[in-house]
Amino acid sequence: MTALCDLADIADPGAREFRAEVDGERRRVFVVRRGGEVFGYVNACPHVGAPLNLEDDKFLDLFQTSILCANHFALFEIASGRCTRGPCVGRSLIPFPVAVRDGMVVPVE
Ligand code: FES
Repeated sequence: MTALCDLADIADPGAREFRAEVDGERRRVFVVRRGGEVFGYVNACPHVGAPLNLEDDKFLDLFQTSILCANHFALFEIASGRCTRGPCVGRSLIPFPVAVRDGMVVPVE
């Protein structure tokens, strides 16, 4: 499996967007880093399916403690992708499982 990037290439905390194969389709995905942990999701808000970010690699809220959809300000838990505030409360981002292997961020099956 091809690595997405070096873990050090993602701010801590922070996020970075990639293009990757998801279920046979090339999709926009993003990876959030929190210390040595990484969490990946498809970049599509469960509200209307739009990309969450308006600026490159900006996926976290002001406090850097939640994932933010910049369209209508939905908030999502970083670790679960579950929406905790906004128009899609209770719904979840589509996971794009990732892991850190030898300091590299890699997709996992
Ligand atoms: S598109 Fe994400 S909250 Fe509306």
